[in-house]
Amino acid sequence: MRPKNLNTRIFLDGGDPDETKEGIRLTGFIDGQTTNPSLIAKNPVARRRMEQGEKFTKTEILSFYRDVVRELYTLIPEGSISVEVYADSSTTADEMLKQAKEMFSWIPNAQIKLPTTHEGLKAAEQAVKSGIRINMTLCFTQEQAAAVYAATKGARKGDVFVSPFIGRLDDKGENGMDLISNIIKMYKNGDGHVELLTASVRNIDHHLYALKLGSDIVTSPFKIIKEWAERGLPIPGNDYTYDPKNLKPIGFKDIDIAKSWQDFDISHELTDRGQAKFASDWNSLIKE
Ligand code: E4P
Repeated sequence: MRPKNLNTRIFLDGGDPDETKEGIRLTGFIDGQTTNPSLIAKNPVARRRMEQGEKFTKTEILSFYRDVVRELYTLIPEGSISVEVYADSSTTADEMLKQAKEMFSWIPNAQIKLPTTHEGLKAAEQAVKSGIRINMTLCFTQEQAAAVYAATKGARKGDVFVSPFIGRLDDKGENGMDLISNIIKMYKNGDGHVELLTASVRNIDHHLYALKLGSDIVTSPFKIIKEWAERGLPIPGNDYTYDPKNLKPIGFKDIDIAKSWQDFDISHELTDRGQAKFASDWNSLIKE
């Protein structure tokens, strides 16, 4: 059962509907799901097929992704399900938008993931105008979150998510959870149209601290959802403190979110690296 005092939506981060079924059984609820190309490549059916040496054609892999997403929709019909476009360093905003339109038609509750790059933001600006709900992925800085806010001004609350990747910042020795609190603080000066989705969750403390900070959404892999359920779905109270261990703090920046999105420096090496990895995991599934 969903705890009464839970103010954060809980999403499952994965590409295997069996995990979603089990996650729902363990917790009694799951509010939504996020997928990405690497998670789809890890889907057990796709993996079995690859192990047999049978790659997909471009059309087959897209219909495979669509079938997975449709199954997720039957499990979480009222929630939001994030579906990610293919993008590499040469993909244009128009190409992303074309994919976004197609993927948005797959299920009634799709949320299209676009990278927080220049082309991704250009596509986002157009997508929200066409009524496509989006989730801006691979966000690693407060500037990128400010640009997401600025590029999507006028969108309805719930139509835009921004996904800061906590675990990947931790991997670099920086305290990823600081980025969550910094964005929450910065967005207090705004109209609330962008929802914050804590992503790249690696351990139960990321999950719990996201609840404590009041992240709108947290997306956690199955093993964290399972651990949270086994602990009795705790919601951290005032006595909870997050231990950043030896991670370097990320300081808050006083950023004016009223500026236009092109005025922000949105570059980050982890965004570029993350985009390249999603593209190569996707391409590894496809026949030459
Ligand atoms: C979900 O939206 C993200 O794609 C995912 O959380 C990334 O997680 P990772 O950094 O563990 O790959």
